[in-house]
Amino acid sequence: METKVFEPSPEGLEEAGEIIRNGGLVAFPTETVYGLGADALSAEAVARIFEAKGRPRFDPVIVHVAAPEEAEALWAEVPPRARALMERFWPGPLTIVLPKRDVVPDIVTAGLPTVAIRMPDHEVALGLIRAAGRPIAAPSANRFGKTSPTHHEHVLEELGGQIEAVIAAGPTPVGIESTVISLVEEPPRVLRPGGTPLELLREVLGDLRADPPQVRYGPAPSPGTLKRHYMPRTPLYLLEMGLPEEGWEELPRERCGYLGFTSAKRGFRAGEVLSERGDLREAAARFFASLRRLDAMGFVAIVAEPVPEEGLGVAIMDRLKRAAQGVARLNEHSVWIKRR
Ligand code: TXA
Ligand code: MG
Repeated sequence: METKVFEPSPEGLEEAGEIIRNGGLVAFPTETVYGLGADALSAEAVARIFEAKGRPRFDPVIVHVAAPEEAEALWAEVPPRARALMERFWPGPLTIVLPKRDVVPDIVTAGLPTVAIRMPDHEVALGLIRAAGRPIAAPSANRFGKTSPTHHEHVLEELGGQIEAVIAAGPTPVGIESTVISLVEEPPRVLRPGGTPLELLREVLGDLRADPPQVRYGPAPSPGTLKRHYMPRTPLYLLEMGLPEEGWEELPRERCGYLGFTSAKRGFRAGEVLSERGDLREAAARFFASLRRLDAMGFVAIVAEPVPEEGLGVAIMDRLKRAAQGVARLNEHSVWIKRR
């Protein structure tokens, strides 16, 4: 199949909307990452998402709407705190999980009695939902378990030839996926940290659990919490303080790539810096593209420096920990690694 590339123009959105209505797949930008969209009310259309991504059927997808009322038509119950969250954070990178109505096909929710919904803060995404005239189910537009796409070129590299269309709108501004919160639990529980910081959610909700239960593989309350996820092909190691110890493996620095927070390190053949001024927003926006560039360079390892675990840094560290195969320490010339 030839993948059409649409401009984010009214005509492009109209054509893309028609593809969605006809059961096809369209990758589109949101403020977080590119999504792989299908008609959320068609089980067959959504089944194609799972095929294209190589995604296990137990992993539910997020439904995207263009207005809070459209979410309320898909949820069976809408408690006051859901309205408070929508009012404060929509449109924006917050996905809310509540009991579903029967109109939502089981394949969307992987058989769960709940559905995850968000209203993206991106004119192209909202335009596509309106043009399609129905909610759009969309996971991130990458192969299952791999690095999320923050540019339409990433989508074309991975899914070109397997989907009907991509809307080409350049880089996505937030760069990291939405925060997923379940209002089914008491107190509410963050299932995946993301673009809406926990600190802001606490302002609205007060009490909040943010310690997602972790499993290696298999049905999870939120499969984005799979321990191994967001994986580059190149093994990634999280930098820690200290010197190498007995049993650590030595790698020459010039065969490794370095993903730094505010600065590069000498001796590595290539380095990416997420934000020279230490701005976590800028770091999040650059994160997946930087990881992808390093991953394409054929290194034996990528060493990633931790970022502060506050604000968007919580979401960045969540992705880094899941992508990491172990830890790294540095001495003057070498990288030392320990697999976990
Ligand atoms: O920013 C985002 O959220 C992007 C853009 C495209 O909207 N989407 C995204 O989708 O990251 P995906 O499929 O890669 O991640 C969806 C997350 C997964 O962790 C999934 O397990 C969780 O949402 N999820 C979906 N439905 C759920 C449900 N009913 N209950 C609990 N978790 C759910
Ligand atoms: Mg994903």
